Amino acid sequence: MINAQKALLEWYTIYGRHTLPWRNTTDIYHIYLSEIMLQQTQVNRVKNEYYPQFLAKFPTLESLSLAKEEDVLASWSGLGYYSRARNLHKTAKLTNRQFPKEYKELLQLPGIGQYTASAICSFGYNQNIAVVDTNIARVIKRLFALKEPKNSIIWDKATELVNSKNPRSHNLALMDLGSMVCLPKNPKCTTCPILKYCQGSKNPEIYTQSKKKEYEKMELFYAVLIRNNHIALTSSTGSMYKNMLQLPTVDPIEEQFIAKFKHAYTKYRLTVNLYRVEKVIDDIIWIDLDKLDQSPISSLTKKALTLIII
Ligand code: ADE
Repeated sequence: MINAQKALLEWYTIYGRHTLPWRNTTDIYHIYLSEIMLQQTQVNRVKNEYYPQFLAKFPTLESLSLAKEEDVLASWSGLGYYSRARNLHKTAKLTNRQFPKEYKELLQLPGIGQYTASAICSFGYNQNIAVVDTNIARVIKRLFALKEPKNSIIWDKATELVNSKNPRSHNLALMDLGSMVCLPKNPKCTTCPILKYCQGSKNPEIYTQSKKKEYEKMELFYAVLIRNNHIALTSSTGSMYKNMLQLPTVDPIEEQFIAKFKHAYTKYRLTVNLYRVEKVIDDIIWIDLDKLDQSPISSLTKKALTLIII
């Protein structure tokens, strides 16, 4: 596979996404942050909005460790999957200035699993270790013609393939190949640098059968109470938006109905109904409407506020 490794690196030199900011830093906190953000969010949104904004607010691991959780959540506002932000904050507190270098130590930290630990070791420390995300997994499955393999088999094959001379670029190259060439549907095999080594090239689509996503439908009812340019919000205790501020819940009364909208959040497909009320039963906090962007508010709540305030 030495020739395949070489061809892959040559391709990466020309076509790789070298300008991504987290690929141009050796700051391990920045690299770690990018990996957490990129887990469920598109590269461009992370690159242009969330990564620079978060780092402007919390430029170092120490500054993050000293922050209040509500400020961290506020900076995560709109990104979804808020447990990522809570774990980031916990990890900053646990590691403070000294971020671990060892894969096994990294795995002990909140929110860091096999993928993130290996990505930190590879992209942050150039350690000789395999990285497997969904893009890389697809490349590996096709390259070795693996039909419905267990995860451990994919990791083993990826480990065999790592280029010990330049593991960091090797893994980044596989990631870029998966996201730009070895696509789930209609892969661009004619432009693939490792086509001649690919055992699955005759029938690439059989290696990408994905499970059908299952969605859960829910209908939600929220109260809108505004006084003196302040809105009544409440701290969410449910698992969905824990510790985030949201509109208080309400028992719907038809005459008070003001708006309805749809919202998708992780596996949920939500229908949200808003009602104008004079009082609510939840414990509330009054938030200045001009300071909403400094508060930990989910995209769902933001969408609701845009509908009712503008
Ligand atoms: N570069 C390093 N890690 C990355 C990731 N998770 N997604 C896209 N580009 C990356």
